[in-house]
Amino acid sequence: MYPHTILLSLALFYLFQPTIAASPSAWRSRSIYQVVTDRFARSDGSTTFPCSTSDRLYCGGSWRGIINHLDYISDMGFTAIWISPIQKQVEGDTYEGEAYHGYWPNNLNQINEHFGEKQDLLDLVAECHRRDIFVMLDMVFNHLASQGEDMTWSDLEPFNDERFFHPRCPIDWGNEASIQNCWMGDGYVSLADVDTENTEVIETFKSYISNLVDEFSFDGLRLDAVRNIPKPFWPEITRASNVYCQGEVWVGDANVVAPYQEYIDGMHNYPVKEAATRAFISSTSDLSELITVASDMQSLSKDLTLFGNFMENHDNPRLASITQDFSRLQTAAVWNILGADGIPIVYYGQEQKYAGAKDPANREALWLSGYKTTDNLVPTFATLNRFRNFVIAQGDPFLTTLAQYALLTSAVMSARKGNVTLVLTNAGNGGGGNVVLQGFAAGMELVEMLTCGKLVADQGGSLALVLNGNPIVLYPRSLLQESGLCGL
Ligand SMILES: *[C@@H]1O[C@H](CO)[C@@H](O)[C@H](O)[C@H]1NC(C)=O
Repeated sequence: MYPHTILLSLALFYLFQPTIAASPSAWRSRSIYQVVTDRFARSDGSTTFPCSTSDRLYCGGSWRGIINHLDYISDMGFTAIWISPIQKQVEGDTYEGEAYHGYWPNNLNQINEHFGEKQDLLDLVAECHRRDIFVMLDMVFNHLASQGEDMTWSDLEPFNDERFFHPRCPIDWGNEASIQNCWMGDGYVSLADVDTENTEVIETFKSYISNLVDEFSFDGLRLDAVRNIPKPFWPEITRASNVYCQGEVWVGDANVVAPYQEYIDGMHNYPVKEAATRAFISSTSDLSELITVASDMQSLSKDLTLFGNFMENHDNPRLASITQDFSRLQTAAVWNILGADGIPIVYYGQEQKYAGAKDPANREALWLSGYKTTDNLVPTFATLNRFRNFVIAQGDPFLTTLAQYALLTSAVMSARKGNVTLVLTNAGNGGGGNVVLQGFAAGMELVEMLTCGKLVADQGGSLALVLNGNPIVLYPRSLLQESGLCGL
């Protein structure tokens, strides 16, 4: 009887594991490293191959290259990657460059051979899963692309006829219906807006995404240009994909972004990203605005712990293009991994203090850094992710609790989530002054996780801190026993 029971439960375990592994709650504990596939690593392992971002041409990054550099990613404690769209693209140099980013698909039934062969992609996912790294695929549903002004409908796959598309019109960004149904793009690359209200289109997309996720065993989807598609389309897609989906609505208004969770598991937390950038890059900005926006997102969202929390991506100027102050960059990193609610997403190159400003400058080749792991933010991200992974594994309420924020001075704030306490300042290197934190147990011993410094609360449960611009990450020493962190 026993062997049968064990076999049965093993069978059930393996049968259900893929679904369980890819569920929203399984993603909550993950930390995502966002890769622009063409720019992360080349198959030949070169660290010198030139890549001029302003040329906007393919630089030769590949799925094989990612496989060969997974240690670099997992050594920083990341437990998921987000890769560029994989489908065949508009070919050749348009006036807007080449489709190295993957957002100009024209044939969904073929893969982008610039990134490798199908087997390379299968190997990438298998190798990630062997290391317990989830793979999130960036997916474009809004449009199919064509070079030039004139569409040759028969060149597109699977929607090879004009009837699958909305009539061409330029987007009026002040009008929601126009945003959803008119065309992005310009005269150089046309982005034909798929008619996502057409039943045939919806059914085709549903079976397409279901098959694609199964075929490559993807664990999640990043949904591109969500605001450009009428909302009822999205639950159809997320259900058919049967994996966690995170959507992009590039808007800073919490009232616009939060309600999308009625349709999609989670969204990029753009309102908090924009407020956090303003808050931390300058000592003249007021941290209270960030606290207001973060609190608005908490109250307006169904479950903010399923949103994606980021400070950089392929569409925005990198932080180091705005400030070179290391304490500020570190503060943003702490906010990114531990401070905001939701799943952390770090954009490749952020750890190297890459300083590209607007697209296309922010899509630098990572190999030119030599993948170095010192004199940058690699050690910071490694420490923060390892700490977060440990806290989660301990069953600390951290993961499912929303952060509590408080303004200590106009330039210093605290954040508390589970047993984790953060003190963050925007004063920059050397600044921040003296603050007193309250609410600890009398005489409690704490460890500052970035420096491994030991602190002790007084008998009244207060902790006096002298800041020097750097972020502070506190955790009770008693909970770190046998953690392998800070020598404990
Ligand atoms: C601290 O963590 C323990 C579990 O490790 C938990 O029981 C307790 O509620 C946590 N405290 C707070 C303030 O969340």
